[in-house]
Amino acid sequence: MAAIPFDQLDGEIWFNGEFVPWKDAKIHVLTHGLHYASAVFEGERAYGGRIFKLTEHNQRLHQSADILGFKIPYSVDELDSASKELLKRQGFSEAYVRPIAWRGSEQMGVSAQNSRINVAIAIWQWGSYFNPAEKLKGIRLDIAEYRRPDPRTAPSKSKAAGLYMICTISKHAAEAKGYADALMLDWRGQVAEATGANIFFVKDGVLHTPVPDCFLDGITRRTVIELAKRRGYEVVERVIMPEELSGFSECFLTGSAAEVTPVSEIGPYRFAPATITETLMNDYTKEVNPVAAAAE
Ligand SMILES: Cc1ncc(COP(=O)(O)O)c(C=O)c1O
Repeated sequence: MAAIPFDQLDGEIWFNGEFVPWKDAKIHVLTHGLHYASAVFEGERAYGGRIFKLTEHNQRLHQSADILGFKIPYSVDELDSASKELLKRQGFSEAYVRPIAWRGSEQMGVSAQNSRINVAIAIWQWGSYFNPAEKLKGIRLDIAEYRRPDPRTAPSKSKAAGLYMICTISKHAAEAKGYADALMLDWRGQVAEATGANIFFVKDGVLHTPVPDCFLDGITRRTVIELAKRRGYEVVERVIMPEELSGFSECFLTGSAAEVTPVSEIGPYRFAPATITETLMNDYTKEVNPVAAAAE
């Protein structure tokens, strides 16, 4: 049986300051955000009834909108409160949280200076981002044809909807070949990230990860770097070229949706999830849900 479409789920959505029935949270086809990708969003997870790093996500939502030239008409505090209240009303303790802000339908055309800035938050239950059985063995990545753009050609520090166009194309191409996802290089040919997550490698007990100068410096990426340092692991942020991939023993992805996901293959390169990946997966699970970890 087909899964229930997202517009047919039950519950409520926070929409421009009000809680509205899920199925009524609709917009018009002549919405600037739909035609011109004037939209920014976040992806968060709640664990044990608490949204992990909620304020950091809402701060990034504001920054993303600033980069696209619009101001979100709700403060970070207001968005934090709305998200917490919505999580309670939805009745979930483990959930995915999706705030989005976009230019409305007041003006069509490339210029839309006076359009209303709309904001919505939806919360639903979303399990593992990757197939759970595959996730434990390590997922397989293809190498994408599209590259993360030069920051002079795209607002690469914004979590902007338009930047996901090449991610969806790349992920679909990878899935068509039987892969779970794709590694994207950047405009210079350097290793960048997956289509919705950052990437780490391990060599001789040291972690290596690309410098996030043209893609998101993920909140999970920063959390995992902190967890690794707490364990005494060395973390090197540097330029990584694809030819170097044969020299790494472990590889994993990080992201709010992906959490810490081991990788077993990238194109012709092979990795074996081992101690460091497992340790950081476990440490991340404890970090996001300290109450559950304390009860163990
Ligand atoms: C393209 C991309 N890179 C990296 C990340 C990881 O970011 P975060 O850890 O803040 O979720 C995400 C997920 O939001 C993403 O979509």
